[in-house]
Amino acid sequence: MSVTLFVNTSQVVTCSGPGRGRRGREMADAGVRSDVAIAIDGELIAAVGDEDDLRRHYADAAIVDCGKRVVTPGLVDSHTHAIFGRARYREQELRASGVGYMEIARQGGGIHSSVADLRTRSENELYDLALPRILRLASYGSTTIEVKSGYGLSTDDELKSLRVIARLARDTNIRLVPTWLGAHEIPQEYRSSDRNRADYVRLLVDEMLPAVQNGKLARFADVFCEPGVFTLEETRIILRASKAAGLGLKLHADELEPNGGAELAAELGATSADHLAAISDRGVAALAASPTVATLLPGTMLFLGKQTQAPARSLIEAGAAVAVATDFNPGTSPTFNFPLILTLAVSQLRLSASEALVAATVNGAAALGIAGQTGQLTPGYSADLAIWEADDFREIPYWYGDRRCSGTWMQGKPCYSQMPSDNLSPSREPDPARARSHHA
Ligand code: NIG
Ligand code: FE
Repeated sequence: MSVTLFVNTSQVVTCSGPGRGRRGREMADAGVRSDVAIAIDGELIAAVGDEDDLRRHYADAAIVDCGKRVVTPGLVDSHTHAIFGRARYREQELRASGVGYMEIARQGGGIHSSVADLRTRSENELYDLALPRILRLASYGSTTIEVKSGYGLSTDDELKSLRVIARLARDTNIRLVPTWLGAHEIPQEYRSSDRNRADYVRLLVDEMLPAVQNGKLARFADVFCEPGVFTLEETRIILRASKAAGLGLKLHADELEPNGGAELAAELGATSADHLAAISDRGVAALAASPTVATLLPGTMLFLGKQTQAPARSLIEAGAAVAVATDFNPGTSPTFNFPLILTLAVSQLRLSASEALVAATVNGAAALGIAGQTGQLTPGYSADLAIWEADDFREIPYWYGDRRCSGTWMQGKPCYSQMPSDNLSPSREPDPARARSHHA
């Protein structure tokens, strides 16, 4: 038995409760506890409780001294597009000068320019670009990160992107959840006519999806359902086929204009509907009445220079389960900083700090279909936790733009650390006197 005790915490935020997303008012209680320690046994959490009790019970345990810091579940970033080539900073200036996001796409920029770029790069090159990005995302507190393909838009280039995600999952101690987003755009070579568009939808369903499934390369299928991109009907065709093939479903829905994307997500039993900045009242009601998680991405609206945000309060008050995520991508949200998204969740979406933390942990896990496995500090759950340079967890959204994460563990193993190395490889012979000296 290899037990490790995390002691000398200022606060432990457990997010404990049922193994599903927290809905409506349930989101208000993040389970904040003072003066407790956490015992992990191998890959799992064994106990959360009084430090003296746990020290007695696990007398031989290795010790990690948290130095009077806050401990939370490792964050779950349930929406990223981390597999891409070069940055797209020119578009930021273009938007500032008044050219809209969709107009840039119509001119062949936006997603199209990332597609042209990714197609020229080898799998190894993409891996070398993505690895430091994933490590940097993790350095802000995430232990689980969903990663989408979607800048390939051909069978070979989508498979290449998904293979990069699989390699990253093998080579890092971060839980990566792969999503196939072959329906991120209609590629340029299929845009000449309606017949041509239909050919791309057929390619997605008849060729790409079976190839993705054959290689067991994705857990979810996702579609950018938006006027100018995929229509509601095209989205339905692609996602129905994906569901029949055994994939979970996600949608980029109602991001810029309301077009029934949220309602479709609920109808299809999608695991999450994401963005929702332009969701209609009917969409809010549909998500509130379904298990589909509403994943909000406030960094995207901020970076696009929009004055609007998704109606988070209406969603919560209607009883929906709300998650937040970075949407890390080169076009609309080039940030690694998940805590900054928590800041926006509080100041722009008007969530409480507890709601924001629940949205970034247990509800992020629910948005990936793994709420019974991670996202809370509860015995039997994966030992995924983050330690924060803070006395109170509300400092995580408060010190905006800062990196307060001092270390994370995933499945009981160090994932990221800024803490002294003796904390990373806990000593077999704990010295309680030393651990306690931090109380002074
Ligand atoms: O989530 N909305 C669609 N996809 C991405 C942006 C992709 C891009 O511009 O490269 C998003 O915002
Ligand atoms: Fe996205």
